Amino acid sequence: MTKLNWAGFSKKTLPERLEHISRSGLLSTATDRLLKENQQLPLETANQMVENVLATFSLPFALVPDVLVDGKVYQVPFVTEEPSVVAACSYASKLMKRYGGLTTTVHGRQMIGQIALSGVSDMEKASKAILDQQAKLLALANQSYPSIVKRGGGAVSCRLEPLAAEDNHFLVFYLSVDTQEAMGANMVNTMMEALVPELERLSGGQSVMAILSNYATESLVTASCRLPIRILSRDKKEAKRLAEKLVLASQLAQADPFRASTHNKGIFNGIDALVLATGNDWRAIEAGCHAYASKDGGYKGLSTWTFDSQQNEIIGQLTLPMPIATKGGSIGLNPMVQVAFDLLGQPNAKELASLIVAIGLTQNFAALKALISTGIQSGHMKLQTKSLALQAGATESELPLLLPLLSKEKHVNLDKVQSILEKIRANKYS
Ligand code: HMG
Repeated sequence: MTKLNWAGFSKKTLPERLEHISRSGLLSTATDRLLKENQQLPLETANQMVENVLATFSLPFALVPDVLVDGKVYQVPFVTEEPSVVAACSYASKLMKRYGGLTTTVHGRQMIGQIALSGVSDMEKASKAILDQQAKLLALANQSYPSIVKRGGGAVSCRLEPLAAEDNHFLVFYLSVDTQEAMGANMVNTMMEALVPELERLSGGQSVMAILSNYATESLVTASCRLPIRILSRDKKEAKRLAEKLVLASQLAQADPFRASTHNKGIFNGIDALVLATGNDWRAIEAGCHAYASKDGGYKGLSTWTFDSQQNEIIGQLTLPMPIATKGGSIGLNPMVQVAFDLLGQPNAKELASLIVAIGLTQNFAALKALISTGIQSGHMKLQTKSLALQAGATESELPLLLPLLSKEKHVNLDKVQSILEKIRANKYS
């Protein structure tokens, strides 16, 4: 693999960027060709993946270069429709890399399945009967999905919880499963359904449902960073003021669900982009993480930022459930997902989960840094303007004249872009 300088990557043209990737040696001959030919999901494959297919639907596939996580540098593929997300994450990761990047801890990697039993007349007796048969139940679960046991995974443990809901009582059985490199929805659902008859027999109740939970609290990952406050400004006084403001921004997201929702949306700008690029189920990740944001009873910001005034450092932390997969599901069907995994250096599921949470914290830092200083509009709108120009029908050759004119405008909307474009076309600016 060739060690390349990624500085100035954003200033390259599209052919130059592709050439740079080729020279990096990250891609195989096959994936390099897939990327250069912009090979999309074949219609025949799409037709096998979901129902009632009519066509395929494309999104931009971009790169956030040089992200330093746990001492390793990654070139990170992003799939997103939103301008400034890639730029912001690239900008923040470039800054963070100078100061050691991010570190992560994987606290676990197990999926949870649940069977809710209703109509249990004696909760205590039923719980005892089930817990006495734990070993048998784990064996039954594993027999229903032997291939995961061969791969070194399988059902690991179980627990029970009595729950009251309105005028009903449930006895909920939870199973923890080591799903190895897969997200494991199929695997866990098969195991849960296999356990239903035995659990109904032991409890005397009836199963309401048997299903995987997306609240993957046994797949938690923490990403952290510790950065000198000069990352916020070269001016010492201003850097301290911004560090204090960053803490306020973090506290606001803990106290106000209106802010927490936007704060977390900023985190998911990066997370979803990488989850999508790797062909993973982003609804599962979003659902689990938003449930985690409410774990203390109210919806809160997922990341926190503190200021160590002794060391003059800001400390960022983000913990999320991240049951990501590198195998299974539709991974491998989309040619661009193969490119994504090669760009990332073929990480395993734990490494990919770490990188995704680290990207969430990086993206959050970029947005907060802008919000507490210049405001979001200057950087975001500069890039959003290009999108508006394209929506207004500007051609590539008109952009070099149009964009500088738009940058002089205080407020840019589609009408404004169209009126300037008309003037350009009427030669009023030449
Ligand atoms: P800048 O200082 O003008 O950037 O910032 P620069 O031109 O000096 O370039 C520095 C580096 O930034 C580049 O390095 C790139 O890495 C990156 P280089 O490649 O030159 O070595 N960069 C770019 N990468 C790709 N394409 C570009 C590009 N421009 C810079 N065109 C920047 C400009 C936009 C980065 C900055 O203003 C910024 O980070 N703003 C924040 C924007 C943001 O967060 N957008 C997300 C969408 S807004 C949102 O939905 C979330 C939010 O609501 C969340 C919340 O409230 O918490 C805000």
